[in-house]
Parts: sequence; structure tokens; C-alpha cells
Amino acid sequence: MHQTVHVELGERSYDVEIGPDLLAQSGARIAPLLRRPKVAVLTDENVAALHLEALRDGLASAGIEMSSLALPAGEATKSWPHFERAVEWLLAEKVERRDIVIAFGGGVIGDLAGFAAAVLRRGVRFVQIPTSLLAQVDSSVGGKTGINAPQGKNLIGAFHQPSLVLADTSVLGTMTQRDFLSGYGEVVKYGLLGDAEFFEWLEGNGTDVSSGDMAARVRAVTRSVQMKADIVARDETEQGDRALLNLGHTFCHALEAATGYSDRLLHGEGVAIGCALAFELSARLGLCSQEDPSRVRAHLKAMGMKTDLADIPGDLPGAEALVDLMAQDKKVIDGQLRFILARGIGQAFVTSDVPREAVLSVLEDALATA
Ligand code: GLY
Repeated sequence: MHQTVHVELGERSYDVEIGPDLLAQSGARIAPLLRRPKVAVLTDENVAALHLEALRDGLASAGIEMSSLALPAGEATKSWPHFERAVEWLLAEKVERRDIVIAFGGGVIGDLAGFAAAVLRRGVRFVQIPTSLLAQVDSSVGGKTGINAPQGKNLIGAFHQPSLVLADTSVLGTMTQRDFLSGYGEVVKYGLLGDAEFFEWLEGNGTDVSSGDMAARVRAVTRSVQMKADIVARDETEQGDRALLNLGHTFCHALEAATGYSDRLLHGEGVAIGCALAFELSARLGLCSQEDPSRVRAHLKAMGMKTDLADIPGDLPGAEALVDLMAQDKKVIDGQLRFILARGIGQAFVTSDVPREAVLSVLEDALATA
């Protein structure tokens, strides 16, 4: 059932291994990268309680010793104080230039540990072992690392590619259904942005993916990673095509800011709602048929996911305020809002050519039914 996706980036190329029970095989898979049988693991307290012993055993089976630091779980950890603690711990552990750091957790740990590896001794190699669906299909692949600043999310960071990614799909079994479905928002995004057949497969098999069918999970993660790998290989540092991965994200970032990056809206939930809005906007602009946004919303609803603004608990600001929040997104270039729109399911493209009035009218209508 195991799959390998290769991320082709010349001398920075690496493999993403996907499948069940990879923690047990972690030692054998990581050993070829090591110059000495010792690794430093950065994780969070929740993941450590659930899975750290399995990782320790997997590494020990290949004679690899590990030390670990568990940081608090949650987005607040992606900040200078925890970053400083992580880097100082790695130095205290005497991690050398030729050693490997392991990022063992969800997107927060992957981003923070990757950034720590990027700056430690001017750069050491690291391995991503993502434990959430969102991290497996998105944040662990592609080398974006960093932390948040008081001024905004992910404003401090570096591109630093991992040397290996081990996506153990068994570990997803301990996720809450809400967190899992949030990650599924990113899975759906891949179908919508570039693979209509994959979206159709998700329409037929999404409930198997969410209910824990391992073959379906491996297939969903593998296709998502393959699509991300292809895009990153074409445009590692987001000069063009990589922005396609932000389908739904311009709306999402405004909604996340409007809900204070709180539990009211998880990132992947915002991506799912954002994808529905991006398709609605595309239909209003005459780019795709009105059936496409209906189909997107029908699938999200069938999965039991947040689909509409009405599904976000609490009050939201008005359409003007939401568009203003979009304008603060770091992906704004020369003051121009950039959107990912679609000519149909699986046919997304990047454009700055979107009239503010069209965005306003989509949001006004969406808020009216909220
Ligand atoms: N998550 C978007 C990217 O990696 O570019």
C-alpha cells in the first residue's frame, strides 16, 4: 500500500513516502541520511503523548538514538519565544551541521522545526514526519518554513526543503473528525485546482477517506502530494504557478482574520469555504458554468464540512471589511489583489484582474444568506 512521490528539485530533490505504519519503519528509512546514529526531534505535547514512543521504537529498531523537545500544541507556538527555545535546545543537544533534525507534528511544528533547521549553523538537513492530514498533503511538502509575526502569519521564514518526508497514514486515525475534515479541505483544493478526475473520485470516495479506509486515505494523500510536488518542481519559490496552491486562500485569509485565527474557523475549513466562494466568483465573471460552484458546495456538504459563511459561528464583518482584510494578505503585489479563479473544475489560474465590485457582490450575497 506504500507509495513514493519524488519532488524533483535538482540537488535538493527528495522523496515523500506515504502509507500506514511508517513510524515503525522510520529508522530504516532515515538511516541512509545519517552520518551518526542520533537525531533531534521537535514535536508538540499532544503528538508526543500519542506517538513519540512509536517513533522512538521505530528509530531504535535501526539503532538510532533520539532526543526530543515537545513544545505546546497550537498556533501560538509558531512565534519567536518558542522558536528561540527550539533553536537553543538544538544547540544544547549539540546538533552538528551534518546531523538531521526531525519535525514530528502538524503544520505548526513542521514550519517551526523546518525554519529552525534552516538557520541552525546556517542550515542543517531535516526530515518531516507530518502527523495531521493538512501537514501530510500540504505544509510538509515544498519547503516553506517559518513562524508568525505580530504583524501577520508566516511573515518570518525561509525556503528550506526537507531531505525526506514520511507521511504515516495510520497516525491520522488519532485526529478528531473536525481536524481531519479541515485537512480534507486542502485535499479537495487539489482536485479543484488541477485534476477534475481526482475531484470526481473524491465525490465518489470522500466518505471512505473520512471514515478511515486506509487504501482510500493513501490514494487521497498520494494524489494531493503528487500535485503539490509537480507544482513546486515547476515553481519552487512562488514566482508564478505555485500561487495556484492558494485556491480559496484569499477568501480564507480574510475569514481567518475576521474570526481572530480562533477555533471558530480552522484553516482548512476556511480553504473549503474559500474554494466555494472562488468558484462562485468565477461563475459570476462568466469564467465557468454556475453548475461548478453548486457541485463544489454539494461535495463539501456531503462530507459534512463547513461550506457557507452561515456555517461559521458568531458574527462576521460586512463585505467591505472582508475585502479590506483581503488587501492585507501578504500575497498582494503592488497593491493588487491576486485571486485564483477557475475556468471549470480542475482548471484554476492566477489573476490580478478581478473587479472589487464583483468580489463585494459575491460576499454580500454570501453574507445575506448567513
Ligand atoms: N501552502 C502553499 C504552498 O506551499 O505554496
